[in-house]
Parts: sequence; structure tokens; C-alpha cells
Amino acid sequence: MTQQTQQPEVNIGLVGHVDHGKTTLVQALSGSWTDQHSEEMKRGISIRLGYADATFRKLPNVDPPECYTVEETGPDGEETEVLRTVSFVDAPGHETLMATMLSGAAIMDGAVLVVSATEDVPQAQTEEHLMALDIIGIDNIVIAQNKIDLVDRERAVESYEQIQEFVEGTVAEDAPIVPVSAQQEVNIDLLIDAIEREIPTPERDESESPRLFAARSFDINRPGTTWEDLKGGVVGGSVVQGKLATGQELELRPGREVEEGGSSEWEPITTEIRSLQAGGQSVEEVRPGGLCGIGTGLDPSLTKGDALAGQVAGEPGTLPPTREEFTMDVELLDRIVGEDEGSVEEISTGEPLMLTVGTATTVGAVTSARTGEAEVSLKRPVCAESGAKIAINRRVGARWRLIGIGTLQ
Ligand code: GTP
Repeated sequence: MTQQTQQPEVNIGLVGHVDHGKTTLVQALSGSWTDQHSEEMKRGISIRLGYADATFRKLPNVDPPECYTVEETGPDGEETEVLRTVSFVDAPGHETLMATMLSGAAIMDGAVLVVSATEDVPQAQTEEHLMALDIIGIDNIVIAQNKIDLVDRERAVESYEQIQEFVEGTVAEDAPIVPVSAQQEVNIDLLIDAIEREIPTPERDESESPRLFAARSFDINRPGTTWEDLKGGVVGGSVVQGKLATGQELELRPGREVEEGGSSEWEPITTEIRSLQAGGQSVEEVRPGGLCGIGTGLDPSLTKGDALAGQVAGEPGTLPPTREEFTMDVELLDRIVGEDEGSVEEISTGEPLMLTVGTATTVGAVTSARTGEAEVSLKRPVCAESGAKIAINRRVGARWRLIGIGTLQ
């Protein structure tokens, strides 16, 4: 079994239409190593964020791209050389909620767009996901043209051309298209080669004040645990700058809602980092790249059921302000992407919008709308810096659809 020893250093989103093969591709890229969580992790801080880590390796004395592999040993038993560990962040394709994908996009350094060769291009989510990458500003993209084992040469070429045509003029225009079969593990070396070239590990400045985007939060105690054995709440997410270490004080914003005398207010939460998990093991420090679990001293009832998902954590006193309302510059899309395409009408005063800011998703009522600008009052506040990008969704029929991008003033 391949061992996972390294902390991931970069987050790569996996996007694309339902059933086009994202999960199968991650399996092919994670090698034979499937036991994501150590026993300790299962018992203790067990995090499942819909992700998998993969260590890319290189066969000695073989030229690229054939040298790339995820196996620890080569065909002749020779040891392979570790290149880097990457973390794949899954965006569920069947999700009608774009919010999941958008909040995932906040922690992606690049993305692999999976497109099946068996279907016409583009399918609804392929288009919507690509648009979201564009909006969030993720331009390190590799396209995996999957399931080539199911089509003949003619269809493979036709699908390749359809993909080329589809990405023209988009953020993925220059992205390499790699024909693969995730299931048959064909061309995985070529795909790793493309990822190594197109999605480099970003330069990180360790001296920056630490910042974590929380994607999930849990109570890891079994029902009926007595108070002596009770473990503190766990927050799962991704460090986006600086580094976090055990023993450090942590502030979470917006924090929690406190009722007082009939009115309610949001108060930041402070706690201590008691333990850290990353890359499937206990660690003392966590840097950007991959997802981590933070064991805190918080009452687990505060972290239960993703209650703190979407919050921002860092050193006390260094976080951006909590905003219950804000004004944003608005840039609307020309048309709604996906199945029921239609033009995007101006935002109107009073309408509800679903806004994704960082990993937070919240509903806001528009209190004032002008061309190119809107003021919103939020149901749940967000912690965000001015200049933050906001994905704007409007309810169209039964679901929220992406209609534009906002910039926090
Ligand atoms: P969601 O997570 O539901 O969005 O789907 P997904 O994109 O992760 O697709 P998944 O990996 O579950 O694959 C869907 C189906 O396609 C499964 O039955 C896979 O076995 C099959 N599949 C995926 N990749 C390939 C491939 O390269 N060749 C063939 N023949 N089948 C594939």
C-alpha cells in the first residue's frame, strides 16, 4: 500500500458534469492508497471534506511525461521519487446547489475540468462550473477528456474539437486537453505532466498573519459520551495564508449569535488550537495546501453539524470585520448558463440573492439596487475584507443560478 507521508501543498478543484468521472479520476490519481484516515483520525479528529490527497512521483531515469506516476515503486521494483502532494477538492456534480462548488472554489489554487468524451459538449454543469472558475479567478486549469475507452477514434476527435470550441474565449482557452480513461488508468502520466506544468504550487509568505477558511465543523463525540471524555469541537478547512500551530490562540468570525434583551448580536469566538490533522496525520503546524482539521477547546455544541462552516479563523484581532450588510459593485453575466439559458435581468430592490463570500454562503435581501451596484442586508453575517469577490446567485424556477460577480466595497 502506498504511504501518505507528505502534507499537500496545493488545492486542486475537480469540477465537471455529473457522472463524467471525477471520483474515478481521483481514485486513479491517488494510486492504490485508499485509507484516507488513520485509525487515530477515525477515533479522534475525523474529517471528511469530500477530498483526497495524491502524491505525484517520478520514475528515475525516464523522460517526461512517461516518468510520472502515483505508485511508490516502478515496474522493475525501483523506488520512485516524490514530486509533491496535492489535495483534490471535490465539487459534487449532481449538486443543484452551485454554492458548494463556489465555496469550494474559494480554496482552490487551480482546477481539473473533467469532460466525458461520450456526451456532447458542453453539458449544463460543465458550463456552469467553468463560468464559476472564471468568476472566482481560477485560471490554472487542465481539462481531462475522460472515458476515451468508450469511444472510437472519430468520436474522440470530434469531442476534442467540441471542447476546444467550447472553451474559446473563456478562462480555460489555453488549458491543455488531455484524453484519459480514469477507469482504465490510461494517460494518467500525461495528466500529471499537465497538472505539474499548469497548476504550480503558489508562492507562500509564511510571515503573513494566519488565515483559515472553515469549510466544515463537527462534534466528534459519540452520543452519550460523559463529560470527562468529551472532546472539544473540530473545525475543518483550509489555511489560505500564514501558518497555524498547536497551542495557538484562534479567533473565529462572525462567531456566534448571542441573544440579549430581545435583540441578537454576533460575537467572535476565541479558543485554543489543541490538535491539528493534515494529510491524514497529526501535525504540529499547518500551512496552505490541503485541508486540515483543528481540534479546539470549544464546546462541541458550537461546532456541531457544520455550524461554523463559512467562518474565517486567525490570530485574535487580525480578522476582517463582520458584516451584516454591505454594498457591492456588481457585474452581471450576459445570460444564465446551463439548461434554461435566458438573459440576466438587472437586480431589483427587495429581491433575495444567495451570496457566496469565501467559503460562506448566505442569503441577502437587496435593500437598494442601482446599475452596477447593490446594497444587501444578510440573514447570516460574513467576515470579509473589502475587495472580496462575491458570487451572486438568483432564484430561477426551483434553483439558485449564478448571475454575476460582486466586489465588496
Ligand atoms: P458525481 O460525483 O456523481 O458528480 O460523478 P463523477 O463525475 O464523480 O463520476 P464517477 O467517477 O462516479 O463516474 C461515473 C461512472 O462513469 C462510473 O460508473 C464510472 O465507473 C464510470 N467511469 C468513470 N470514468 C470512466 C472511464 O474513463 N471509462 C469508463 N468506461 N467508465 C468510466
